[in-house]
Amino acid sequence: MQFDILTLFPGMFTGPLTESIIKRAVQASLIGISIHDIRAFTDDKHHTADDAPYGGGAGMVMKAEPLAAAIRNVTSDPSKRLRTDEPRVTLRHGTGQLNDEIASTGARHLAPSTLVILMTPAGELFSQRTAMELASYAQIVLVCGHYEGVDERACEALIDREISIGDYVLTGGELAAMVVVDAVARLVPGVIDAESISEESHSAGLIEYPHYTRPANWEGREVPAVLRAGHHGEVARWRREQQLRRTLARRPDLLARAELTPADRAFLATIGWIADD
Ligand code: 6GU
Repeated sequence: MQFDILTLFPGMFTGPLTESIIKRAVQASLIGISIHDIRAFTDDKHHTADDAPYGGGAGMVMKAEPLAAAIRNVTSDPSKRLRTDEPRVTLRHGTGQLNDEIASTGARHLAPSTLVILMTPAGELFSQRTAMELASYAQIVLVCGHYEGVDERACEALIDREISIGDYVLTGGELAAMVVVDAVARLVPGVIDAESISEESHSAGLIEYPHYTRPANWEGREVPAVLRAGHHGEVARWRREQQLRRTLARRPDLLARAELTPADRAFLATIGWIADD
């Protein structure tokens, strides 16, 4: 799967995307990440990517032409950009070279298609469900919004979806784009343990249970006896109850949408949960 990030600040991406799990996924050609400087697609000598808003007001607006040129550069066909439901055979890196490895291996299980996303606080809220949807594309193009916004005509013509990562305002879409890359990349087969993903879907919509490792006693605090006894069934039940307890205490809103068994509901009732339905 290929991520193409379009930004006015390419320097922000070294570090977060060149360490740890994401670094290994790139080295293993499971994913490709290319950073593209929108300013490289300006044609004036000052490399102007923004301008004052029509109608007046504070701040600057990202210009349509450089953004459109940058987007078209990373999608396969400049004039009639592929619709997201059309088959797509090859992918390109930022260099313009065909990335045969990604085209032939990493992306084989995917619906071969491209999605162009604008990162903006005005977008739909990003969630694990969104991450799963995005993971089925062969290419995700992330446009990092900046200043007061992006010329609306460029959005209309070229943006498929607008995404926000939360109800707060960042100085730009860069950090948000990194969040999206991280959350989507870890769902690509092979990037992390398949077991971790399946455990995640098993506990769908609940907060995690607490974890412990050695020593068994740390500064007088004991690891719960049930975990040390190692009875698999008892451990599983304890963990599930911890998840339910924590979710009720911290995120009761999640319980309405979580997949709960009759046993889960019975347990929740004993700790004071009253279902809405
Ligand atoms: Cl995607 N961009 C900005 N500038 N602020 C945000 C955001 C995005 N998501 C949450 N806050």
